[in-house]
Amino acid sequence: MTRRRLGRGLYDLGASPFTSSPSKPQELSLVKDEAAAPFPRPVVVCVTSGKGGTGKSVLTSNLAVHLAASGLKVIAVDADMGLANLHLLLGLQPRRTVMEVIEGGATIDDIAESGPIGVRLAGGGSGRPEMADLHPSRLRRLVAAVDAVGERADVVLVDTGAGIGRSTTSFLYAIEEILVVTSPDLTAMTDGYAVIKNVVRNNRSARVFVVVNRAQSAVEGLEVFGRIDRVCQRFLERRLFYLGHVLNDPRVTTSVAARVPILLNQPAAPASACLRGVGRALLLEIDQRLAGTMADGRAGATHAARFEPDRGPECA
Ligand SMILES: Nc1ncnc2c1ncn2[C@@H]1O[C@H](COP(=O)(O)OP(=O)(O)OP(=O)(O)O)[C@@H](O)[C@H]1O
Ligand SMILES: [Mg+2]
Repeated sequence: MTRRRLGRGLYDLGASPFTSSPSKPQELSLVKDEAAAPFPRPVVVCVTSGKGGTGKSVLTSNLAVHLAASGLKVIAVDADMGLANLHLLLGLQPRRTVMEVIEGGATIDDIAESGPIGVRLAGGGSGRPEMADLHPSRLRRLVAAVDAVGERADVVLVDTGAGIGRSTTSFLYAIEEILVVTSPDLTAMTDGYAVIKNVVRNNRSARVFVVVNRAQSAVEGLEVFGRIDRVCQRFLERRLFYLGHVLNDPRVTTSVAARVPILLNQPAAPASACLRGVGRALLLEIDQRLAGTMADGRAGATHAARFEPDRGPECA
């Protein structure tokens, strides 16, 4: 493993941060410097898309693993209300769900269960129509619970359902960091733009990040991002932040079937190299955001400025 110190206990993981033994992901250890001071509050990132099936949950599970391996305390929240499946991708069978937060007054910390390399999951409910149609006032309780996580996490990744139904917009309009996942399909791009348009109009402080999943190449990823970014600049007067692309790779499907994030069981796969690239880009954004929340006078002195160009394997 190569790892570059970012400061405050965080590391940028290089080429092969994870074990090469697919059968022993549990042997991974956190690389956080235990002496580092805890962060005052978590950065919350909402992972969403216009069209379904673009890879939100694959991305959420693998980003959670990457950020945890980089030294952050990570909680993933499955907010795909009624059709939750993030637990499958993390190899978990949660006994408790976010419904206990919404209806029972539990905290996210109460219900979160431990998964690979310390990632914690607040699971959602699956096949439950009553969850799919919750009133926004109830969903706001879950948003408030995410806000109240405090120092128990550095990062909370919220995996939502696709589209602009109210169960998703309750999160999109309340969370500042929005990560839109699109594929190169015209319909996915179009629906992705529709989501961004709604976010920009209803959540003025939001920053919108884009990941192009299932790209055939880095060039295609950039082209797709460029098209969406140009339309947003022209019609919404808003710039987007590109976190990168993930190659279309059949090994993603086999890792989903094995219920292990691909970063853990196939770290050498082309998609894994891309996911690490996206993870590093997100880590830098999170690092900046966390630096801004520091109350000890170091606010603004981000480690991103000292970040060296990545020397890990290229994501083709
Ligand atoms: N980079 C990729 N290469 C190949 N296949 C992929 C890739 N990303 C995702 N997939 C496939 O797409 C499927 C759907 O991915 P995922 O469940 O993450 O989508 P989603 O956006 O969360 O879907 P939903 O909208 O239903 O929540 C995966 O099970 C996997 O088979
Ligand atoms: Mg999903």
